[in-house]
Amino acid sequence: MAPGLPPLALALLLLLWPLGSSARRAARFDPTWESLDARPLPAWFDQAKVGIFIHWGVFSVPAFGSEWFWWYWQKEKRPQFVNFMNDNYSPGFNYEDFGPQFTAKFFNANQWAEILQASGAKYVVLTSKHHEGFTLWGSEYSWNWNAVDVGPKRDIVRELEMAIRNRTDLRFGLYYSLFEWFHPYFLQDESTSFSTRQFPFSKALPELYELVNRYQPDVLWSDGDGGATDQYWNSTGFLAWLYNDSPVRDTVVTNDRWGAGCMCKHGGYYTCSDRYNPGHLLPHKWENCMTIDKSSWGYRKEAWIGDYLTIEELVKQLVETVACGGNLLMNIGPTSDGIISVIFEERLRQMGSWLKVNGKAIYETSPWRSQNDTLTPEVWYTAKSKEKSVYAIFLRWPTSGQLFLGQPKASVGATEVNLLGHGQPLNWTLAKPSGIMVELPQLSIDEMPCEWGWALALTNVT
Ligand SMILES: *[C@@H]1O[C@H](CO)[C@@H](O)[C@H](O)[C@H]1NC(C)=O
Ligand SMILES: *[C@@H]1O[C@H](CO)[C@@H](O)[C@H](O)[C@H]1NC(C)=O
Ligand SMILES: *[C@@H]1O[C@H](CO)[C@@H](O)[C@H](O)[C@H]1NC(C)=O
Ligand SMILES: *[C@@H]1O[C@H](CO)[C@@H](O)[C@H](O)[C@H]1NC(C)=O
Repeated sequence: MAPGLPPLALALLLLLWPLGSSARRAARFDPTWESLDARPLPAWFDQAKVGIFIHWGVFSVPAFGSEWFWWYWQKEKRPQFVNFMNDNYSPGFNYEDFGPQFTAKFFNANQWAEILQASGAKYVVLTSKHHEGFTLWGSEYSWNWNAVDVGPKRDIVRELEMAIRNRTDLRFGLYYSLFEWFHPYFLQDESTSFSTRQFPFSKALPELYELVNRYQPDVLWSDGDGGATDQYWNSTGFLAWLYNDSPVRDTVVTNDRWGAGCMCKHGGYYTCSDRYNPGHLLPHKWENCMTIDKSSWGYRKEAWIGDYLTIEELVKQLVETVACGGNLLMNIGPTSDGIISVIFEERLRQMGSWLKVNGKAIYETSPWRSQNDTLTPEVWYTAKSKEKSVYAIFLRWPTSGQLFLGQPKASVGATEVNLLGHGQPLNWTLAKPSGIMVELPQLSIDEMPCEWGWALALTNVT
């Protein structure tokens, strides 16, 4: 107790003490979906809106087809993949032999952190372990198949965590695949239709506890149920610990991939499917996890420019997603030597430059009563109720110089219309039968506040 504390303060402290501890007790969660699903999502996640996903692992070495390389080569024996191996590797070369070639020799976590910060994202999610089972940290449960023992000989998770936390304002998140394609315990459990549970209890769960205790992620992005239920994975038991007793219990957010049948139904926020973008408002917080390379999460050497989304397409994804209450998690796949290729870097920096001008219409917004405009296509709305602002984000600059908005109810003398990144308020008139007609300024390319999409801030509209 601090000496010299006034008696009144002391009395107040003693009075509040039991309140605080009983409040904590009341907030404990049971290992049931009913209890866990009722946990309020930590507020930072909805405010953040934009995250960057990073798929990196041994699959980045062949860097061909997709991060599902092993599956397509060994399991499905797709000719493309079998031929790729025959043409480029000697007979008998195993998937494990890619491990030492995952060198990460140019990996500089500080450089990644700088690029991620420049993207305008507010969180990052790194694949700490994908379906191949290779852990990017020195897992005690992944002997000789982790980045500290094989390949980089470095703790990749720690290096990125340090750089992100020391140098950026992003939250640090980790992806973790529950199942593994070729782990003998998993295959054994699978052969008993998951009536045995050796893999979760000797591999997946110990690793999850290790990962959370060591790196304290703010996002735990679970994936890969391998066809087994959440009972097999003991997911509710683990989540009860995560929410009640883990070092990140107050800040951590999780997704909905905790066992067959959980997606879009149980857990934290919903992901529903890869590249989920419903185009309408959902009653539950959700995330659109998608890829800048349209057909792969991992790096592909054979990708050409047309395989990557343009910045216009990315801005459109972001705006549609946020207007409908989602977060956008944009994926990049670094090369096996640790480079974020210049095309990914450019897209991230472009997104950051757009958000620098238009971030007010994205970060910390809520969905409005309408998500898009009925009169003009490609106009999406967001809102900030405490600032009494509605944002109309339009993805096409009308050649007429006039933008009709069917949704806002404006009042003459009170409503103000501003183009973000432009100094002067804009003239507008009431349109018939409803809405407003906004007179856009006539700007040369150099005078434009940004490209690819623009945002109007409307104040005092309903
Ligand atoms: C980050 O900060 C921690 C603690 O403040 C320090 O121990 C560590 O060396 C720093 N790491 C980097 C990469 O700057
Ligand atoms: C499995 O879940 C139960 C509760 O359902 C919990 O008591 C136990 O600690 C969990 N085990 C692990 C390893 O997570
Ligand atoms: C826009 O909103 C209307 C309802 O006002 C809806 O019918 C339409 O599908 C939406 N458009 C898009 C592209 O989502
Ligand atoms: C708004 O309208 C007034 C009156 O027509 C005009 O004088 C003024 O230049 C307009 N302002 C802008 C920013 O277009």
